[in-house]
Amino acid sequence: MPYRPFKLERYFARHEFGATFQLSASDCESLAMDELLAMGSPETLRLWRELKLGYTECAGHPVLRHEVASLYEGLGDEDVIIAAPEEAIFVAMHVLLEPGDEVVAVAPAYQSLHEVARALGCTVTPWRLEPGEASWRLDLGALERAITERTRLIVLNFPHNPTGHTLTRDELDAVVTIARRADLVVFSDEMYRLLEPEPALLLPPVCSLYERGISLSGLSKSFALPGLRLGWLATRMPGMVERFLAFKDYTTICNSAPAEVLGILALQARAAILARNLAMVRENTAIAARFFADHADVLGWLAPRAGSVAFPRWLGEGSVEHFCRELLTAKGVLAVPGSMFDAPGSHFRLGLGRRDLPAALDGVGAFLATHWR
Ligand SMILES: Cc1ncc(COP(=O)(O)O)c(C=O)c1O
Repeated sequence: MPYRPFKLERYFARHEFGATFQLSASDCESLAMDELLAMGSPETLRLWRELKLGYTECAGHPVLRHEVASLYEGLGDEDVIIAAPEEAIFVAMHVLLEPGDEVVAVAPAYQSLHEVARALGCTVTPWRLEPGEASWRLDLGALERAITERTRLIVLNFPHNPTGHTLTRDELDAVVTIARRADLVVFSDEMYRLLEPEPALLLPPVCSLYERGISLSGLSKSFALPGLRLGWLATRMPGMVERFLAFKDYTTICNSAPAEVLGILALQARAAILARNLAMVRENTAIAARFFADHADVLGWLAPRAGSVAFPRWLGEGSVEHFCRELLTAKGVLAVPGSMFDAPGSHFRLGLGRRDLPAALDGVGAFLATHWR
C-alpha cells in the first residue's frame, strides 16, 4: 500500500522556515554548536578533534551505545541500536509486522506511528485520547477491547505528542499486563521522556519494564538537538537488535560520524542539558496557562502533564484551520491545527520548549485583539 503524505511534515515544509514565530514546535530550543562543545570532557573533545569522516559501526559508536544503555536499567550496550528517530520507527515496524497483522496505537499520534504499519498492510486500531474538562484521558478498557487474536503490537507514546498527556505508573503497569497476557510486543515512543516537570511523573522505560518491550528515544526533543538526527531503539527481546540491523542496511547503513561524537557529548552532559530544557518548559507552561486563562472566551486550555507540547482548543468562530491560516498571514505566527494529526475537534498544538514562546503568544494576543474583539 502506498505511503500517504506525512501531513505534519508537509505542513512544516511549506511554512516553518518562512514564519517569524513558531507556536507549535515540538522540540526544545536547539543548542548551538559552541554551547554543546563547551560541555565536552577532554576525552570526548579529543574524539571530536581526531574524528575521521569514514563509515561508522552500523549499530552505532560503541561509546554512544554505552551512554544510551546507561539510561536503561537491565539493558546492556548490545541491546541498543542507534538510528535517526524517524528511521527507527520505519525499521522497527518493518521488522515487527506482516501484512494482515493488527496494531493498536495511541491516537492522535505522530503520523508515522500509524502510517508505516498501515502501509505495510496492517490494520491500525486507534486507542483514543479523549479531552476532559481540563486535561486528557485514556480508557484502559478501550485498549483491552481493541485487541483481537490478530493483534501483534501495541504502540504507545508517552509523554504524548501532541497532547502532553502521560500515563500514571499504575496505568502503564496495566498496559504491560494486558500486553503480556496477549503476548504482544509494546513499541513505546519515548522521544519526550526526561521532560517530566515532577519526578513522580517519570515512567520507567518500557524496554526495562517489559521483556517484549521496545523503547524508542533520541536527542531531537528533550535534548534539543534535532539537527543531529540521532535516536535509538532499546530492547531486551532476543535477536531483535540483529533483525533491526539487517533492515537498517537498506536505510542508512550507519550513522553520521560527527553526529555520533556530538551525541556522546550530549549524553555525557545530560544533566545540564535536561535541566536547561525543563526550566524553559516549566516557565513556558506557566506563561501559556496564564495567557489561555486571559483569553478563555476563545481559547480552551488542556493542561499538559509532561513533555514539550500541549494541545489546547480554538473556541472562536470558524475552523481551527482558518484560525491558524489567519494567524500566520496576519502575524507570522505558525500554529499547527489538530487535523495534521487526524485529531477530531478544534485543537492546535502548542510548543512549550522554545525561547520565543512569549513573543509568539504576544502575536496571538495582538491577532485576537484586532480580529476577534
Ligand atoms: C512522537 C515522535 N516520535 C518520533 C519523532 C521523530 O523524530 P525526528 O523528527 O527527530 O526523526 C517525532 C518528531 O516530531 C515525534 O514527535
